[in-house]
Amino acid sequence: MITGGSKGIGLACAKGFLEEGASVSLVSRSTANLDAALAQLRAQWPQGVVRTFAADLCDAAQALKVLDEAEAALGPVEVLVNSAGAARRTPAEELTAQAFEDAMQGKYFSYVHMMEPVARRMGARGEGAIVNVVGSGGKFASPVHMPGGAANAALLLVSAGMAAAYGPKGVRVNAVNPAQTLTDRLRTGLLAEARQHGITPEEAQARITARVPLGRLARPEEVADVVVFLASSRASYVTGASLVMDGAANPTAV
Ligand SMILES: NC(=O)c1ccc[n+]([C@@H]2O[C@H](COP(=O)([O-])OP(=O)(O)OC[C@H]3O[C@@H](n4cnc5c(N)ncnc54)[C@H](OP(=O)(O)O)[C@@H]3O)[C@@H](O)[C@H]2O)c1
Repeated sequence: MITGGSKGIGLACAKGFLEEGASVSLVSRSTANLDAALAQLRAQWPQGVVRTFAADLCDAAQALKVLDEAEAALGPVEVLVNSAGAARRTPAEELTAQAFEDAMQGKYFSYVHMMEPVARRMGARGEGAIVNVVGSGGKFASPVHMPGGAANAALLLVSAGMAAAYGPKGVRVNAVNPAQTLTDRLRTGLLAEARQHGITPEEAQARITARVPLGRLARPEEVADVVVFLASSRASYVTGASLVMDGAANPTAV
């Protein structure tokens, strides 16, 4: 099951899991986005098993409902990838109390509402793997990403806590922290960065890229490769980990 599977990193993850022969369920709010993703995946993997489920994961009841529907359709969720995020980048001077609340709803609760019941069910079955696509903004503060960064930091804590709580029941939980990755979300973020500095979005992208030692931004498929690895038995002793993918933009030992 991939939340946020209709676009960006989540959609790239869907492709990665289909490539491995998995059956995939995608969750996002918009039926139009899900239909577009389904058409793309069916064109590439005509034999692949893909189901789509519309839900706003900010609502715990909707999350539970689609989890039940997905398990009824495809069997127990063996791997959960959370990638359904909506925390907006906002220049510091434009911040409001609502911006902080929206970020927790859009990024933190949208992950927790699916992670918690899935971890519990996996634990009851004695196996499972969860990978949360969080963000390096949860580790390194950015002036234009404070509400979203705070939600990410909270998610990293819960990912590590879930790994400890459900490890004895055979469930692994890991987090991947991409920095700027070339998706629609990034393009929206660049608009905030551009407003903050009075420059064009293109100049904002060039500035961000200049700070990355690898000399380019990540592609969604590169994040998906790491997600698929962490979900696989190749990572059978990796749990509670938080893997930064920022092209060494914030080199650090911890
Ligand atoms: N791209 C980056 O540079 C980057 C960097 C670090 C971390 N991340 C994180 O990675 C995750 C994925 O980002 P992305 O760039 O792939 O974003 P994206 O292209 O905007 O895709 C987000 C996905 O989440 C779904 N979604 C959003 N809110 C939802 C909700 N409340 N309930 C259900 N589905 C919801 C969207 O579909 P609907 O609109 O149909 O709901 C879409 O499928 C996010 O959590 C983001 O914070 C991204």
